[in-house]
Amino acid sequence: MNEELNQNFLLEESFFIDSSDQSQGRILLLLINRPDKLNALNENVTRELKNAAKRVMKDDSIRVVIFGGASPSIPSEGKKSKPNSFVAGADISEFKNKKSEEIFDIFSDNCWEAIWNIEKPTIAMIDGFALGGGCELAMSCDIRIASDRSVFGQPEINLGLIPGGGGTQRLTHLVGYGKSLELILSGKFINSDEAYSFGLINHVCKPDELKQKTLELATLIGSKSRHTLDIAKKAVRIALNTPIDEGISKELKLFSDLFDTEDKEIGVNAFLEKKKPKWKGR
Ligand code: COA
Repeated sequence: MNEELNQNFLLEESFFIDSSDQSQGRILLLLINRPDKLNALNENVTRELKNAAKRVMKDDSIRVVIFGGASPSIPSEGKKSKPNSFVAGADISEFKNKKSEEIFDIFSDNCWEAIWNIEKPTIAMIDGFALGGGCELAMSCDIRIASDRSVFGQPEINLGLIPGGGGTQRLTHLVGYGKSLELILSGKFINSDEAYSFGLINHVCKPDELKQKTLELATLIGSKSRHTLDIAKKAVRIALNTPIDEGISKELKLFSDLFDTEDKEIGVNAFLEKKKPKWKGR
């Protein structure tokens, strides 16, 4: 841990959604930066992710957040380069000698929930390993875009464990009971094409296109009314834990309420006048 004391565990980049009008907000790209350990989530990274989630919620200028993993550093002479990784899981070395009470406390306030609870659009930009807590981190985001060299899996079973960052639940919601259990019971690794084939990820692309494709989608999403985005995410979340009839009546209420917003007038008028809407966010 000592050599990590002064490390920046999260690297940040910002991109304006409309460079000619900075008031339209920005996209925040956060890169987990522990490439020598394949960006495994240790206590330091987890703390930084939780802090970042709080910051994102407070900062009005941030409209969309992208999570990724830092690329491997150039190896010192004679050493092999580490593989690319989004996040290769929770840091397994921190599991040694831990008992249930301690781990329960640590996992009760965790980075996966912190990211899941961000009330703004979130995208996982995956290049390389997304295993265990890394796959769970990707699933805590709303959308997943991966390079074709990425690898997915929930290998906790190999450690005598099960996923503990929401994986059993979010994976089942995302891909269904059978595929979820196949991954969790076998601990096997799958590639991007297979992950795409059953809906674990939204898009697959070449590694050198990944950042651009992710930013394009983030920019498209970020160009909408931030208030409407917020309501849209809330409405879709309702579907995860509500019977369909109840969900539909909740949707009706949220939809109707939008008719009292300035942004609905702005959007409708912009369409009718064939102009670009200039949202107010209310
Ligand atoms: N926790 C802690 N350290 C990890 C890690 C994790 N989840 N995943 C990788 N690392 C570390 C390795 O210990 C190694 O450290 P070292 O160079 O100091 O020895 C470094 O990252 C590189 O990993 P390495 O295993 O040498 O790379 P590889 O290319 O041979 O294998 C993986 C890559 C991803 C297949 C392998 O690292 C792995 O299986 N990781 C664990 C995945 C997992 O079980 N995740 C779920 C955890 S709950």
